[in-house]
Amino acid sequence: MAVDPASFTRAMSRIPCPVTVATTLDAAGRNWGFTASSFSSLSLDPPLVLICLGKAASTHAAFTATGRFMINILAEEHAGVARRFAAAGIDRFGAGDMEPCELGLPGLPDALVRVACSMHGILDGGDHSILVGRVEATHVSHRTPLVYCDRSFAAPRRPRAARESLAARGAPGARAHADPGGPPRSGKESELSCVSLSTRTA
Ligand SMILES: Cc1cc2nc3c(=O)[nH]c(=O)nc-3n(C[C@H](O)[C@H](O)[C@H](O)COP(=O)(O)O)c2cc1C
Repeated sequence: MAVDPASFTRAMSRIPCPVTVATTLDAAGRNWGFTASSFSSLSLDPPLVLICLGKAASTHAAFTATGRFMINILAEEHAGVARRFAAAGIDRFGAGDMEPCELGLPGLPDALVRVACSMHGILDGGDHSILVGRVEATHVSHRTPLVYCDRSFAAPRRPRAARESLAARGAPGARAHADPGGPPRSGKESELSCVSLSTRTA
């Protein structure tokens, strides 16, 4: 007997996920994009990633017809971008923060990571389609990742030594954050702790 929807949703909401914005262009050159936490690396040889898109979404037709798409993995300062690309009835690209990047696809210049893909395949995943992308190009920064957990946005707190090392090397996006205070933490505990960035979303 299958689990009831509330138990399933409650269990899944406890699992920390990356926050991404997937984008593409249709044949008329129109931009499409949606916020997604269902991103995962899939295969090294060939290099594949996946993302899941609800079949009822307004972006479904565009993404399943396109031959390429971009995954923008968001950094801690991008909670507003994540909310905008999940909202209905607005121009998600109206803020003008996306620009043509790898493969000419819309990208966030200060994304944590960009993964530009050609479409490898589309699989059935219940009420979602699983878009499997073959990775054609990547862009990496050293910003702090945005994480989604318990229906809230959060950011993992890096150990001070790692922050200082990145900042000293002038890594893009590396900031020596103010120490939040409190009792000293072990390196492991510090790596895993999160700073809450928002109230709950839906
Ligand atoms: C943090 C977060 C993660 C999301 N992850 C996904 C996802 O992995 N797949 C998906 O289809 N929709 C996901 N959504 C919902 C979509 O962003 C979007 O709201 C939905 O596709 C409906 O869009 P529409 O108004 O274009 O139909 C997520 C929303 C949020 C806020």
